[in-house]
Amino acid sequence: MKYFAIPLTALLAVSAAPTAQTAESDFTFEQRIAAAEAVTSELFDELSGRLNSALSEGDHSAAIRVCRDEAPAIKTRLSLEHGWHISRVGTRVRNPLLGTPDPWERSVLDDFERRIGTGEPITDLTHAEVVEAGEKRYFRYMRGIGVQSNCLACHGAREQMDAPVRRILEERYPHDRAFGYEVGELRGAFTVIQPMPEAERE
Ligand code: HEC
Repeated sequence: MKYFAIPLTALLAVSAAPTAQTAESDFTFEQRIAAAEAVTSELFDELSGRLNSALSEGDHSAAIRVCRDEAPAIKTRLSLEHGWHISRVGTRVRNPLLGTPDPWERSVLDDFERRIGTGEPITDLTHAEVVEAGEKRYFRYMRGIGVQSNCLACHGAREQMDAPVRRILEERYPHDRAFGYEVGELRGAFTVIQPMPEAERE
């Protein structure tokens, strides 16, 4: 199931994206955006594929394992493959250790909420910026994640959750705030941080 609309220009840019042989400093801002778009699509497709197959078998505890164990494992694998930090954060968070936005991410999520308020579709919500932190510069990218109907089993109203799902979630996530969502709301975002080499400094 595809949920992100990827503009054709981005796909073309991906095919022209730098290879491992290209020096990191040769990356343009647009190439970094295209690469971040590609990797977040990969993460999303892999996660929703695994989640949907567990849900279609009606196996909620397997689906919870997908979100709890496989999601962090997939993003760690992609982070290692690319040498970037690739993760996901929530507007309200179930796992505070892994899903809490940092202040920059929080401000982008707030801006995404504002953009939704002006009628922008969630599938268009991306933001890319070069951010300075002390001596270092980072390319940072975020892409909004919307709530779909298949998320509600675990992120919808608590009183409408299946009793076993609710029990597992309450046991495992005592600080859970990631429920009560409705379809079409912003659930969070994928987030990518690429360190930029010194050579890219002005
Ligand atoms: C079967 C239950 C289940 C379903 C269905 C589910 N999730 Fe989750 N979700 C979880 C669990 C459990 C976590 C906490 C994972 C962890 O421990 O890091 C989570 C965490 C998240 C996070 C990370 C931020 C946080 O709150 O910790 C995002 C973003 C998220 N889910 C989005 C979605 C979206 C979007 C969908 C629908 C496409 C979805 N989830 C469907 C159970 C589910």
